[in-house]
Amino acid sequence: MIKDMKFILTLIGKNKAKYFTLLPLWCIIGSLVDISLSYALKLLTDYFMYKNSQNITNLIIIFSATIITSILFCIIFHLHNKVKEDILRDIRIMTFKEVQKLPSSYFKSTHSGDLVSKFNADTQSVTTVFGEFENIFESIIAMFIRIPFVLLLDVRFGAMLLGFSAVTGILNALFIKPLREKHKVILENKAVLSKEASEAVTGFTAVKMFSLSSHLLKKFTNSVQDNFNSEWKAKKTYTLQRGLNNIIWNSSYLLTTILGCIFVIKGTLEPGNYLAISTGNGIGWSISVLISALPNLQKAFAGSNRLKTLYDAQKEPDRYQIDGTESDMGLDVQDLEFSYEIEKENNKNNENNENNNTLDNEESDYTSYQFKISGLSFSINKGDTLALVGDSGGGKSTIAKLLLGLYMINSGSIQVNGQAYKDYSLEELRDQMGYVPQDAYIFNGTIRENILYGNTDADEQQIINAAILANAHDFILAQPDGYETYVGERGIRLSGGQRQRIAIARAIIKNPSILLLDEATSSLDSESEKLIQDALDRFMHNKTSVVIAHRLSTILNADKICYIKDGNVVEEGTHNELLSKKGYYHSLYYREFANKTNES
Ligand SMILES: Nc1ncnc2c1ncn2[C@@H]1O[C@H](COP(=O)(O)OP(=O)(O)OP(=O)(O)O)[C@@H](O)[C@H]1O
Ligand SMILES: [Mg+2]
Repeated sequence: MIKDMKFILTLIGKNKAKYFTLLPLWCIIGSLVDISLSYALKLLTDYFMYKNSQNITNLIIIFSATIITSILFCIIFHLHNKVKEDILRDIRIMTFKEVQKLPSSYFKSTHSGDLVSKFNADTQSVTTVFGEFENIFESIIAMFIRIPFVLLLDVRFGAMLLGFSAVTGILNALFIKPLREKHKVILENKAVLSKEASEAVTGFTAVKMFSLSSHLLKKFTNSVQDNFNSEWKAKKTYTLQRGLNNIIWNSSYLLTTILGCIFVIKGTLEPGNYLAISTGNGIGWSISVLISALPNLQKAFAGSNRLKTLYDAQKEPDRYQIDGTESDMGLDVQDLEFSYEIEKENNKNNENNENNNTLDNEESDYTSYQFKISGLSFSINKGDTLALVGDSGGGKSTIAKLLLGLYMINSGSIQVNGQAYKDYSLEELRDQMGYVPQDAYIFNGTIRENILYGNTDADEQQIINAAILANAHDFILAQPDGYETYVGERGIRLSGGQRQRIAIARAIIKNPSILLLDEATSSLDSESEKLIQDALDRFMHNKTSVVIAHRLSTILNADKICYIKDGNVVEEGTHNELLSKKGYYHSLYYREFANKTNES
């Protein structure tokens, strides 16, 4: 609970002082308004009963005070709401920033649907924390103001209310843990639901292709049922709590009425005091609010806890402490060791599974089959082009990602443009590199916006120049709205070759000193291939480039070729040198390219 509170305080951030001043102030003034109204009722009754003219002056004073405090209440209520909205806005921005700081490995092991649910449902549940804070503050302050008020009017009723408050407190405590547990399960089930829904939407082509609709529907129905079961269990506990709460509230009300009537008849309680106590005590209400607020707070904390796992996740550091070599090359990589963190992934999937012991053995078995890079070394002169070729799954894309600092290496040294890797912050490093990945991501927006993401400061002419260099200008102009054409989610309205050319234009507009190009494996028609090759030739001129090559034209243009197998360089040299070696490259060449060249 204290940890949860600390986290909420972190989320409230710079608005802490404002929030925690306005909240109690709002509650105190609200209670004062209630009490002054009750007191006015007493004075009014006393006046009619005893015709005491002195009461009229008091009544006027009390009524005026009530009006003033009511106006004040409205102003503070308004300011308080404003702070809450400020806080929500800041939390959304803060969460977005936290997500941006997450390392690549987090995204690989966390489903995007789960992250989206953290953004939406869990951020929303933080707002319910505020609602519950208000309820708790309001009822506690009301009790602190009303109990003394009732005590002053009549000690017997005051004592009774104290007794009811104590019972409430004890009853509350019993509901805290079970409701918290149940709500945690609800949120987990909801995250599964959003994962499955997002999968059905994003993977719709595969769903249709493989007639997966009924299979997915069955899976989804099961998850919905789980969701229903967990909600229902929580609702039952909640109903029990509400029921007990009503019993207490009604008993308190009934007892006040019965005792009030007896005392008035016996003459030990003035009728005006009785009216003020019965209308103004409102303790039954405060108690009921408090009863539901504490377990509800637990529910809200269950959501903020899921958000907390995101905030607590290890973030990408500012820079990696990787030494360089002595050389003054464009890129120099020596003795690099790396393996993907599979263990973490397993832990993450089982983070809520308390019984983890059985997993250890499976994990170590799995780890032994894990993809590893060990003792990888290669270098390129400044301005030269290195082609990485090899079998699928050999580790070529992984090497590009390591150069970009998307993953931390285990050991080894990397020199970039004559400077050690550790001399650059990751941001500076990535600023120097243009990366065109194998499956370039196209954002949902216009073509223009997509190119502009390479350099948001670029002007119109630069955008067009980049598109011309990437051989994309003509096809862009042929689109219905030219540069303003919407490309759809992930660029779904474009062909594979068009997407790649936009990604190249995006890399060109960035004007990096190092280019990392991961060619798409999907074969392009020879016309598109030539267009892309021409674009790259122009752009790669004088740039240090690492090209993961699937096309012969790219390979032949390279100054050096490395054959990558099982995470290591097994052959290195120029096209002719490698062919004469009659090794891996030789067989790749005759398997993949020789026929094609003969044909054309
Ligand atoms: N995020 C990841 N977590 C764990 N293993 C991964 C991850 N990404 C890739 N791998 C594994 O690393 C190995 C190398 O993958 P990589 O993508 O580097 O191959 P590649 O040489 O680029 O293949 P291709 O030519 O098919 O693109 C593969 O066995 C793959 O299963
Ligand atoms: Mg690859």
